[in-house]
Parts: sequence; structure tokens; C-alpha cells
Amino acid sequence: MFNIAVLSSGHSRGSNLRAIAEYFRVNNLPVKIAFVIRTVADAPITEVCDEYNLTCHHLSIRDKDKFEAKVKYLTEYHQVHLIALAGFLKCLSSDFIDTVNVPVLNIHPALLPRFGGKGMYGIAVHRAVLAAGDIVSGPSVHIVNSAYDEGEIIAQEKVDVSACHTAEEIASLVLMAEHRLYGRAIWAYLKKLYS
Ligand code: GRF
Repeated sequence: MFNIAVLSSGHSRGSNLRAIAEYFRVNNLPVKIAFVIRTVADAPITEVCDEYNLTCHHLSIRDKDKFEAKVKYLTEYHQVHLIALAGFLKCLSSDFIDTVNVPVLNIHPALLPRFGGKGMYGIAVHRAVLAAGDIVSGPSVHIVNSAYDEGEIIAQEKVDVSACHTAEEIASLVLMAEHRLYGRAIWAYLKKLYS
């Protein structure tokens, strides 16, 4: 059995968490979501946790050192094999990445290295894709290092956005691809790393 942890921040919707949990359930995979972190008490992701009976801890991120120390403690306590960021918009410190001892993955809603980096989150990403006139976009799953969106890319899915006229249309197509990609990428990475 593999244990994973999912970190979100702010008012995270939790749609990727739902897709991941559903992927593991439908495919009967030996992956347990040991705990979920939210940084805002009433974030919508709480409802997804209730639905899937997942432990969801509320941790303030105002003091980042304290936040990271608590995540590290929980990761060790639950013998977590991998941390997946889903809607986690903060930068983790290099000290955390270096000492947590498990890989940290993130999903980004664009084909990195395009449209990554500071400020590139949410609808801003899709506006930039539209402004650039790109006809293909899609999510990337990458290993997290302490620089925004710059870690090794381990999975991507290309999405034809040529018929989209607004950033919102692109966002909705890319989000559907995120839901197809993330659980699969996490499972493939766990297998590669630990078997
Ligand atoms: C997703 O678009 C993901 O790519 C980005 O944050 C968003 C989270 O959405 N990192 P949700 O909370 O999983 O619905």
C-alpha cells in the first residue's frame, strides 16, 4: 500500500483531489490518501474530503516554517511515499524539499516550460495562452523544487484549444485533462520509484 498526502491552499475547489481519489478507487489501486491539508478553514476541498472520507487538516500558512514543520511531521507519522500538490499556490522552501525525504509533485494547467513561473496560476495562465495565440495547451505534472514550476516534467497531456475564444473555455478543457492526467501520473511515478 502506498500512502500519499495532498496539499492545497486558499479556497481550493478540490476537483483534482476528487479526480485522484476516484482514479485510485475505480482502478482498485493500493494507494491511500493518508491526509489532505487545507490552509483556509472553509475551503470547498473540505466537502470532497467528507465525500471520500479523507482526513483533512487545517493548517495556517502564515508562519511558513511552522506549516512546513507540521507537514513534515505528518508525512513521517503517516509514512507517506509521495506528496501531491493540488491547488497549492505557495512556494515550498528548498529546506522543506530537501529534508522531507519524499518526492513532491504538482499539476500546472499549461504545457511547461511555457506559461509557468510567478503569477502564472489560475485564469492568468489561460489568458496568456490565448494572448499568445497557442492552439494547443494542456496540463503538466512536474517534480517540485524550490523554483516555481521548474522541476522535471513527468507527464503532460496536449489539448486542442483552437476552437476556444475565451480563457475560461481553455480553462475548462485543460481542467478536464488535469483530471484525466494527475491520478495516472501519480500512480506511474509511485510504481517507477518504489518497485
Ligand atoms: C488546478 O488548475 C491546478 O492545475 C492548479 O490549481 C488548480 C486546482 O484546482 N495547480 P482544484 O482545486 O484541484 O479544482
